[in-house]
Amino acid sequence: MVINPVKGTHDIIGEEANTYSAIEYNCRIVAELFGYQEIRTPIIEHTPLFLRSVGESSDIVTKEMYTFDDKGGRSITLRPELTAGVMRSIVSNKLYANTDLPLKYFYIGPCFRYERPQAGRYRQFHQFGIEAIGSTSYLQDVEVIALGKRVLDSLGLNKVKVLINSLGDDASRENYRAALKEYFAKHIDQMCEDCKRRLEINPLRILDCKVPEDRPIIEGAPKMKDYLSDEARGRFENIIDALKKIDIEVEIDDTLVRGLDYYTGVVFEYHMSEGDDVGAIGGGGHYNNLLKEVGGPDLEGVGLSFGLERLFYVFSKESNEQIYVNGPDFYLMGMDQFAIEQNFTLANILRGTGYAIDMNYETKSFKSLFKIADRKHSKFAVIVGEDEIKNAQLTVKNLKTQEQTTVKVDDMLMVFQSMLKEYVEELEKGETFNG
Ligand code: HAM
Repeated sequence: MVINPVKGTHDIIGEEANTYSAIEYNCRIVAELFGYQEIRTPIIEHTPLFLRSVGESSDIVTKEMYTFDDKGGRSITLRPELTAGVMRSIVSNKLYANTDLPLKYFYIGPCFRYERPQAGRYRQFHQFGIEAIGSTSYLQDVEVIALGKRVLDSLGLNKVKVLINSLGDDASRENYRAALKEYFAKHIDQMCEDCKRRLEINPLRILDCKVPEDRPIIEGAPKMKDYLSDEARGRFENIIDALKKIDIEVEIDDTLVRGLDYYTGVVFEYHMSEGDDVGAIGGGGHYNNLLKEVGGPDLEGVGLSFGLERLFYVFSKESNEQIYVNGPDFYLMGMDQFAIEQNFTLANILRGTGYAIDMNYETKSFKSLFKIADRKHSKFAVIVGEDEIKNAQLTVKNLKTQEQTTVKVDDMLMVFQSMLKEYVEELEKGETFNG
């Protein structure tokens, strides 16, 4: 019986995995440029963590979590996102007590949401994200938004727009919530079942409803900007001005509320401005109460996450950057069993010295071996034929320039080193995306 992959999951293989690694490498470098350190938290957490953080009115908690009882009868959930786990880890390890604030962490890892699979939407997907906790400055918000933009720039993705909104402070949001409740109460009979439920738990969630028949009612709803306190409005304006000063253009979108309940203050999303719409490539925002909610001190934070599958998708479609595929340094080609056995000994010596080596075990013609070496993105092909064995030498061909040289076996280690150095220098002259 054939066992298929679980619906909504996907395998990432070979060159595709190479591109994922390159994207992750870029994210990591940008995070480090901004002073973020890596954090790795478990994939499984106690279910109440997500109920308290992501929120009981969010779609994630109401419909999308992979939750099960473990053998000890504890309710466990596969993380649907990483922010909550990072907050839990800060509390569990009292990280706030012995490190300078703000705490700045980045993460890369899988998440799980039971969503309807479609382009760019999976049940197991991967996020890169950052969290900065313990600064009250609006510049911390700006830093996070700028970091996200830098990630996209570094991948050569320039057809991107940044949508931004403010959900205000606690007082502004309470007033807004009351106004929404009053407005939607008049229309709720004509709205979907989810919205009826959202009206009771969190009317802000209704703004996120995707049901087309509900949209005209939602368009007519009161706007958050009319309920912002002077302080919240001032902070939002400061953020937008500071972004302008560093040449980041943003589009204010007063319907942007995001799908998680923990946001207060600024929220934002990165979308492609042209081409296929795969939904937000990334998003984030400020959260005043999240750390406190999970049992920590009263420190506010701000963060963002990118979906790696969506970054991969737009990168593959839109970017002109070349992915440098790291194939073997030398592909050893032997045409007969004797040469193959010689090559096996040679491979052992060369690998021991740090060269990446691949070789053939089945006898094949040189023509097909060259094709294989190319497909493997090998830098050089090493030919071991009858003449070479007789004269204790190797023929080495640079597969980029097609130049061919003869090398004495005794000089091999030294000559290979200088050949590779030259090869890499040539490569670095061209624009490659990762080294
Ligand atoms: P989110 O908007 O739920 O935010 O997810 C962030 C990104 O993850 C999305 O923009 C999207 O690219 C990707 N994503 C979400 N669901 C899927 C899916 N089913 N398949 C593929 N990609 C998906 C958060 O998760 C927050 N933790 C962001 C944050 C960090 N806010 C503050 N700090």
